[in-house]
Amino acid sequence: MSWKEIYKSRLCTAEEAVKNIRSGDTVVLAHCVGEPPVVVDAMVANYKQYENVEIKHMVSLGKGGYAQLGMEKHFRVNPMFASANVRKTISEGRGDFTPCFFHEVPKNLRNGKLKIDVLLAMVTPPDEHGYCSLGTSVDYTLQAVKSARTVIVQVNDQFPRTYGESFVHISEFDHIVEASHPIVELQPPKIGEIEEAIGRNCATLVSDGSTLQLGIGGIPDAVMLFLKEKRDLGIHSEMISDGTLALYEAGVINNSKKSFNKGKMTVAFLMGTQKLYDFVNNNPCVEVRPVDYVNHPAEIMKQYKMVSINSCIQVDLQGQVVSECMGLTQFSGVGGQVDFVRGVSMGEDGKAIIAMPSVTVKKDGTMISKIVAFVDQGAAITTSRNDVDYIVTEYGIAPMKGKSLRERAKNLINIAHPDFKEELMAEYELRFHMEF
Ligand code: COA
Repeated sequence: MSWKEIYKSRLCTAEEAVKNIRSGDTVVLAHCVGEPPVVVDAMVANYKQYENVEIKHMVSLGKGGYAQLGMEKHFRVNPMFASANVRKTISEGRGDFTPCFFHEVPKNLRNGKLKIDVLLAMVTPPDEHGYCSLGTSVDYTLQAVKSARTVIVQVNDQFPRTYGESFVHISEFDHIVEASHPIVELQPPKIGEIEEAIGRNCATLVSDGSTLQLGIGGIPDAVMLFLKEKRDLGIHSEMISDGTLALYEAGVINNSKKSFNKGKMTVAFLMGTQKLYDFVNNNPCVEVRPVDYVNHPAEIMKQYKMVSINSCIQVDLQGQVVSECMGLTQFSGVGGQVDFVRGVSMGEDGKAIIAMPSVTVKKDGTMISKIVAFVDQGAAITTSRNDVDYIVTEYGIAPMKGKSLRERAKNLINIAHPDFKEELMAEYELRFHMEF
């Protein structure tokens, strides 16, 4: 059969495709922007036909209809990242959570430690050879295509066609649904004075020729604002968003000094506005590759002068970093934070930055220090005190590696919010039997 005949024979409606999901199956959703909303909606609408279908994903930006109250008998939510659409379901005990380093997801799909029966993914229309692109999300999605019993794809002609390792032949898909619509957009975050101050501090740790990993959010975007005077920067990052574009267009990012994948930005996934999707579409300068390559510490350590910038929820006075929980409540997931913190530190000349505002302000105006004597009860440590390298707030930089417990505490108190310094200093004096 020619690929065109295969395509035709597997073409169906979303309603027909989801009939191939069975009770007890584990359904994996392609990561982030690669989630196919038309197929997911059809699965949710067909809920009466299923019992105990497990739903797994990392970041999900979809409606999450499977996580709604009353769906528990039909769908069992069990992601590896608590996105906003499933957070309440998990905290109310109607769903579960599976901790997992991002770079280990493909391996665990291969070796069966992470179960998968069905994959739901979005792809581009096939090229003249019958190959579709996984577009924005190659990460674990490529491995999921190989490991799933049943692969259901939504072919969307508005999905960007990316280079790297994103191509899959049409014969690897079992059920093909055509549906065209714009791709989910994520607007650039608002950058205020505090983010700018943090960005300015982080930028002092980035020297010309560095290869960058930037997480999502206001802080990474703020850092970019202060990198305009740098030269020859490169990108080897779990993800990119719109912030990267301006620096690329200004010629600051040219990827010329990278140790490998020279001249290209290497990412596992991307999310942003339509401007970003237009930029990556058919652009050989951006390579989207599996996360067990991009995020593997053994690969990251080989990149020239790696600098990683991620954020967190809490840091204690030993430098233990909580990035995904508020006490026992799961707020997000480890994602690629530890993959990069470790890989960067394993390199000879890397710098792993955890950057955060010194306080978070709740809706009622209450200010909470993010630098604390003890992390909240029940919170999981994301980046250990042995892995942590630099902590940055709007008040400065606290180096951690090579520093004693006393030195760490002192460095952290020095970059804490002034309103909380006194109580932290009192804890210092109690703990170390000496004046601050
Ligand atoms: N105590 C209580 N609440 C806190 C808090 C603390 N110490 N720190 C943050 N919060 C609350 C904020 O008040 C905010 O609450 P709201 O939603 O009610 O407004 C919420 O947590 C989010 O905080 P914010 O500062 O806006 O988070 P962010 O969007 O910058 O994300 C992380 C920060 C840490 C949650 C996020 O970076 C993450 O999940 N990291 C782990 C994964 C990772 O690093 N991946 C690699 C890059 S993709």
